[in-house]
Amino acid sequence: MPIRREFSPRSLDAAAIQEGRVDQHYVKVLIRLLAAHAMAEKLTALGYQRALATVDNPALAPILEKNFVEEKKHARLIYDVLEEIGMSQQAADRSMVTVLKAPSFDAPSYFAGKASGELDLMMASLSLDTTGLIMIGVNYKDSSYAPHARAAEIILEEEADHEVFASRQLGDAVERFGVEEVNEALRNWIPRAVNFFGPPGTGFTYDCIRYGLKTRDNKELAELYTSMLTRRCDQLGLTMPALTPGYPHTLEKN
Ligand SMILES: [Fe+2]
Ligand SMILES: [Fe+2]
Repeated sequence: MPIRREFSPRSLDAAAIQEGRVDQHYVKVLIRLLAAHAMAEKLTALGYQRALATVDNPALAPILEKNFVEEKKHARLIYDVLEEIGMSQQAADRSMVTVLKAPSFDAPSYFAGKASGELDLMMASLSLDTTGLIMIGVNYKDSSYAPHARAAEIILEEEADHEVFASRQLGDAVERFGVEEVNEALRNWIPRAVNFFGPPGTGFTYDCIRYGLKTRDNKELAELYTSMLTRRCDQLGLTMPALTPGYPHTLEKN
């Protein structure tokens, strides 16, 4: 049965929270969701910054710089939304310490801290920008919390560009590195990318949907991503790796 949505898109703002017109649990769920979104943007920014230092193809520098600046701005936008309701960036980041170790944060953490070289960068972009576009476009742009919906709209415009970059990169990667090497990189990255959507059917997501902070379950978004990417792989003669069905997904042994 579909979950009944209690608040329509953009129907609440900071004043509603400050004046106590929404219950405390809504605020708790909203803050947790925003803190995770902000952290994902921040790690993606750090990843592009790291890519600037580790990728030795000068032709890529302008686009890496552009993405770095934009991801930093996305993080700032979400931290500002949090600050308006009394949560500092530091407190938000601190609240994420355990979540950061979860499989859902493996992709952005790896990008920020370990990825190196051009192929890794391409995979990171495919794992973070394409997934981000889906999460933000499907889930956050119609948020019941108007400031988050407005930030999502701004982010979406720039993410659309990043996604074009990511999809073009995949074709370029095949040309530069060959099908075999790209297939291997996909096997390394795709489980991480799909896990980025988070576990299916959690109580937290149930609350998010009920409050109108998300529209779809993580599982539906993960499936959307997998089918998009499968199509793209087919077009390029690549093999989309088969994953185990449960979360966290790993490579299917064959
Ligand atoms: Fe972003
Ligand atoms: Fe992006």
